[in-house]
Amino acid sequence: GKGAAMVTAVAYRLAAQHQARQKILEPLKLSHEQLLEVKERMRIEMEKGLGKETHAEATVKMLPTYVCSTPDGTEKGDFLALDLGGTNFRVLLVRVRNGMRRGVEMHNKIYSIPVEIMQGTGEELFDHIVHCISDFLEYMGMKGVSLPLGFTFSFPCQQNNLDEGILLKWTKGFKATGCEGEDVVGLLKEAIHRREEFDLDVVAVVNDTVGTMMTCGYEDPYCEVGLIVGTGSNACYMEEMRNVELVEGDEGRMCVNMEWGAFGDSGCLDDIRTEFDVAVDELSLNPGKQRYEKMISGMYLGEIVRNILMDFTKKGLLFRGRISERLKTRGIFETKFLSQIESDCLALLQVRSILQHLGLESTCDDSIIVKEVCTVVARRAAQLCGAGMAAVSLSLSLPCSFSTVLQETVKELSPKCEVTFLQSEDGSGKGAALITAVACRILGEPAV
Ligand code: GLC
Repeated sequence: GKGAAMVTAVAYRLAAQHQARQKILEPLKLSHEQLLEVKERMRIEMEKGLGKETHAEATVKMLPTYVCSTPDGTEKGDFLALDLGGTNFRVLLVRVRNGMRRGVEMHNKIYSIPVEIMQGTGEELFDHIVHCISDFLEYMGMKGVSLPLGFTFSFPCQQNNLDEGILLKWTKGFKATGCEGEDVVGLLKEAIHRREEFDLDVVAVVNDTVGTMMTCGYEDPYCEVGLIVGTGSNACYMEEMRNVELVEGDEGRMCVNMEWGAFGDSGCLDDIRTEFDVAVDELSLNPGKQRYEKMISGMYLGEIVRNILMDFTKKGLLFRGRISERLKTRGIFETKFLSQIESDCLALLQVRSILQHLGLESTCDDSIIVKEVCTVVARRAAQLCGAGMAAVSLSLSLPCSFSTVLQETVKELSPKCEVTFLQSEDGSGKGAALITAVACRILGEPAV
């Protein structure tokens, strides 16, 4: 009768909507062939970055770091470390001991950096940093002691030495004026002099990937790759000196900061980027830049999800077709919500309560859909990252977790390389201190 016909009509409409959504999500699901392509293209970009002739126009910069050895356990002393590059700024005091009491002990304090300062003038930014250092020294009762300092500065820097870093361009949420093209150690020192309160002895400028690698390297000498998937994404690894054409000499190895976030900026990932990736990129602080990073890292995944949900809703495939002001608001989906929603064991009721917390009224069906979108976006991120790691693993001279997906993808794409993933415990800050400690050991500088 009529009732049955209506039920059929509803079922038909729901099936059609389901199909429409699947069609939209299709381009976000990468095949094995596509991932292999990504790995191959990464290899090509890596070679361009390393080559003397091709470096200037390369997008993946493969920057020399002047870190040539990992810790050997004989390092000792007290060090200061700064960690700038994510959402917070940290100052650390790191005590490294050798011999029987070998190990690392840390004290640190976290300071927030207001957006006005991240995007104000360089002077304001560095004055703020020095203000925080001063507060920390006060807090530790250490004003007047001058310790060797390692500066984790997680942006692309051209280094001609361990203790110098010329900022090539800001990435992630930073845009302070007057810094690009300048040596950040110089900028820091100038700010210290403006304050006329204390002095610091900057020994090393360190990328967070390098710090992370060194931290694990302290426990495991075979650790020779560093990977960060945080606000941004990047990797470093130990490369044979003869392949690092920008630096004289063929002996030994040097850690290379890949700056792989910029992979795709030449257009080489255009065929796998979706309209959602393009939309997120266009409204970012650095349109056209860091395209690979924008498909992988925390600062952008929530925005990709939000763009997909908006598209679904506009097409009447979600939230009963009603676009709320909330949904139109940039940045509502922080990564922590995304990973909560995506976590396997989180019941749908909880997903709904998270959505409610975000001001999004949802039905049970809506929450299933949102969860699927989060899963698809996160899975693609891990796979893309895995494809990059598979490319890197081919460069490691020794036989060589974001999660199992990343590791599976590496296995799948580079089956012959044995890579083991270690979680770095508080990597980026501690690593700067360890690099400083290694430098002090090699230079024979007394480190208190
Ligand atoms: C961005 C920076 C890079 C850093 C990464 C992770 O990609 O350019 O230097 O390592 O974020 O923080």
